[in-house]
Amino acid sequence: MRAAELVRKKRDANPLTREETFFLIEQYTRGDIPDYLMAAWLMAVYFRGLTPEETADLTEAMMRSGRVLDLSELPGAKVDKHSTGGVGDKTSLILAPVAAAAGLVVPMISGRSLGHTGGTLDKLEAIPGFNVRLTLADFRAALREVGCALIGQTEELAPADRKLYALRDLTATVESVPLITASILSKKLAEGIDALVLDVKVGSGAFMKTLEDATRLAESLQSIGTRMGKRVVALLTDMDQPLGRAVGNALEVAEAVETLKGEGPDDLRALCRDLTAWMLHFGAAASSVEQERARYDELIRSGAAAEKFRRIIARQSGDPRVVDDPSRLPQARHREDFPAPDAGYLARIEAEQVGWASMALGAGRERLEDSVDPAVGLILRKKVGEKVERGEPLATLFANQPDRLAEARRWLASAFQIAPTPPPPRPLVWNTLS
Ligand code: URA
Repeated sequence: MRAAELVRKKRDANPLTREETFFLIEQYTRGDIPDYLMAAWLMAVYFRGLTPEETADLTEAMMRSGRVLDLSELPGAKVDKHSTGGVGDKTSLILAPVAAAAGLVVPMISGRSLGHTGGTLDKLEAIPGFNVRLTLADFRAALREVGCALIGQTEELAPADRKLYALRDLTATVESVPLITASILSKKLAEGIDALVLDVKVGSGAFMKTLEDATRLAESLQSIGTRMGKRVVALLTDMDQPLGRAVGNALEVAEAVETLKGEGPDDLRALCRDLTAWMLHFGAAASSVEQERARYDELIRSGAAAEKFRRIIARQSGDPRVVDDPSRLPQARHREDFPAPDAGYLARIEAEQVGWASMALGAGRERLEDSVDPAVGLILRKKVGEKVERGEPLATLFANQPDRLAEARRWLASAFQIAPTPPPPRPLVWNTLS
């Protein structure tokens, strides 16, 4: 078999066999196929697409390019959630402890913030001492002891994805539904899970800006995951404004803690309740999703979810006292309100611009090797649909370097739209594909 032949085959819109797909991925991961040939194949896939069989084969080949965890010795269903990323999305910090408090095993491997979107690992690292770099052996031990562990990508899991993603980034081949599907699922399925809840974001702050594009991705993820023997649901959820009010690492941890205690913003609470109910439903097949929503409420009300979060933090060397005293989280030195230029109703909050404002303050990174400031970011004082008076704060900015405030203000100036009448409501969950 020759890689150039397989590139030609895909260029001419012919499907590759399972053996051919495995050959490409195995040889490329080993360094036996050069980047230029793989880049040509990626571009052929970008234009020609992959059949569902080819996408499933690619997912499996990428998953098997490294270790695949076998967690079968742990009692309880192994269930995870993946989000395609957004602004203010701190749901993992809430639903992972709730699901673990219900007896599920949650082996969560997450990413870092990049560009305007946040990342779970940076949020967790805002908790003093929290270690996201467990070895796989310690990850397994933490899962056995606590039921949940949250770590970063390791070299051992799905190495093909790391190599391929870097090449896609350089060759304009990221935006391909089958390639995104294989990339996301290969990493998640290598965690050894039985079921996966997918939060596919749609809107101005999301990777997929239109409902049509987000639906195509959600359908592909759901059907390929199911084809690979997992229980998978994909919720299409709104990212046209940030989720919740806090954007920035420590600020988001504080908001997640409030939500774990039954407070927190309405949209964040509602979304966590829905996503967790699906996780619990997959873990206890006899129950309905509606019954599991009630179980979510009970785990929050009883304090079991907050207690589980304390235990997760302590197991990963963090300071669990942040759950009771958020002032132990890093605090920014400067605060400044961003006033409304007009009176009326808040018609839009461009999530992407808010993400860039937070990044300008130092909460995010342009390149993966950049560091982030855990304390900085912003809190939205108004959400879409709320009434505002001229001069009332729309947001409060938290900064450590005052010279960064001007750029953040510029981003915010283009983020808010005020109208004389309230906008029509948008759903939080656009669709659920199961
Ligand atoms: N996120 C991933 O993990 N992979 C992609 O290809 C795109 C987004």
